[in-house]
Amino acid sequence: MVAMAELHCHIEGAAAPELVERQARKYGADTSRFIRDGAFVWEDFTTFLAAYDFSADLFRDEEDYALLAEHYLTGLANDGAIYSEFFTSPDHARRAGLSPETYTNALGEGMRRAKQATGIESRMIVTGVRHFGVESVEDAARFAVNCGHPLVTGYGMAGEERFGQHADYARAFDIAREAGLGITVHAGELVGWESVRDALDHIRPSRIGHGVRAIENPELVKRIADEGVVLEVCPVSNIELKVFPDYASHPFPELRGAGCRVTLNADDPPYFHTSLKKEYEVAVEHFGMDAEDLAEVTRTALAAAFVDEETRARLEARLDG
Ligand code: ADE
Ligand code: ZN
Repeated sequence: MVAMAELHCHIEGAAAPELVERQARKYGADTSRFIRDGAFVWEDFTTFLAAYDFSADLFRDEEDYALLAEHYLTGLANDGAIYSEFFTSPDHARRAGLSPETYTNALGEGMRRAKQATGIESRMIVTGVRHFGVESVEDAARFAVNCGHPLVTGYGMAGEERFGQHADYARAFDIAREAGLGITVHAGELVGWESVRDALDHIRPSRIGHGVRAIENPELVKRIADEGVVLEVCPVSNIELKVFPDYASHPFPELRGAGCRVTLNADDPPYFHTSLKKEYEVAVEHFGMDAEDLAEVTRTALAAAFVDEETRARLEARLDG
């Protein structure tokens, strides 16, 4: 199996049901509404977010978050990943009673442990949550810029895409960009191609989370290819959340064929019964990719990673070596 690299995973959404149940026992919470038979239960994006928020609330102290990052990254490395960039959410930490600084340091500790055990390199992308509003998204950007953690290298926005307009959030991204952070934004997942266009016009990201609904407009697909914007595609998530009815309708091959720079990602792996490894397998099974195609996907991810050039060169050497 080719070495893998990941650009799009939400750390709170990476907590396996067993780990969430362990946390629930620690804090005396009842998981029966959100976990059944060892799996998360949800029906649509709204109930998915409810299960996600419930689980996130069970990570409350430094060791909880260190363990979450360590657990997730170690498993990923054991599956064959050499690099992971994951989204953090200071708002979720605050809601669980932890300061964003303590939360970020704790995740950093988990990253350090995983790297020591497996060699996996990782970075954090601080995100604002779109449906928490402009103020909170700008606060997250200011935190990303001021936290000073060496493993925070990017800024992004997740959450309910049907809430507000990209233009409303432009200032938050300006704050992050001016400080030198890498920029990515969720767009074109729950909302159509116009959302991707607006993200490109107002946010000016080097990467887009999902972006798959750009397929609805051929001129936009051409723009993405021409501008070299990298798409963080999450095929299994898209099928599970019914963005597309089946893999035969998924636009990954068409976007790739049109010259768009595409990567493979797992988004919130246990919620969608997936993993980065499974996404690469799905690409083989449903999109006709071979080992060289998959290596190209990893190469694209490393080229677009929010890391210093020395780290990038080291990772690229691992891929080629
Ligand atoms: N937060 C966690 N997963 C998400 C997704 N797939 N889209 C938007 N926000 C999210
Ligand atoms: Zn996502």
